[in-house]
Amino acid sequence: MNRDAIVEKTVLYVKETLQQQEGSHDWLHIERVWKNAVKIGTAEHADLFVVELAALLHDIADHKYHGGDETVGPRVASEWLLGLGVDRAVVQHVSQIIADLSFKGAHTKTEMKSIEGKVVQDADRLDAIGAIGIARAFAYGGSKGQAIYDLEIPPRLHASFNEYKQAKTTSVNHFYEKLLLLKDWMNTEMGKKLAQERHRFMEQFLQQLQTECDVEFVQPER
Ligand code: NI
Repeated sequence: MNRDAIVEKTVLYVKETLQQQEGSHDWLHIERVWKNAVKIGTAEHADLFVVELAALLHDIADHKYHGGDETVGPRVASEWLLGLGVDRAVVQHVSQIIADLSFKGAHTKTEMKSIEGKVVQDADRLDAIGAIGIARAFAYGGSKGQAIYDLEIPPRLHASFNEYKQAKTTSVNHFYEKLLLLKDWMNTEMGKKLAQERHRFMEQFLQQLQTECDVEFVQPER
């Protein structure tokens, strides 16, 4: 099978698999990440085949929806690609990127090992910030029954993946625990540039939200 056919088949597979997924991690999230990853990957002269496959499969079995098990995603992706006869080295690279990609808490940042990984991570992070990041934060929080904000629950910078997974939080806290940190974590030039504007928009949004609700959100202790 040629590369285009593999990508095409993977698109259909991911669309089908994520059909029931709520708005923060649905096919449209994957599609945006895929497109931005190709854009950034082109500028970075990355291997676009690896970039596209990793972007398409990065949330195929996210630990957030699989009882916290972060080994499922890379395994499902590998099985899919091996089934299509994709080269073992490519499969290995793609599943490594997926394994390293997921956010594990503010103090447990994962360094991506290849330029392809850095590209996909930037594309995924871009979709977590700006207007779309705001929309996704509330969609995800809503799906988990979280409050929009609750001044009794302070935001926390989580020291471990377990702490991050188990903590009770709110959608607004998620900005302070993750989303506002992302602009300084971008890997590529294009990623950094695109993140600036999105970051400013989130700050404006939080300002406006505090004014309208007549509250002051608590900042996390560092
Ligand atoms: Ni994602």
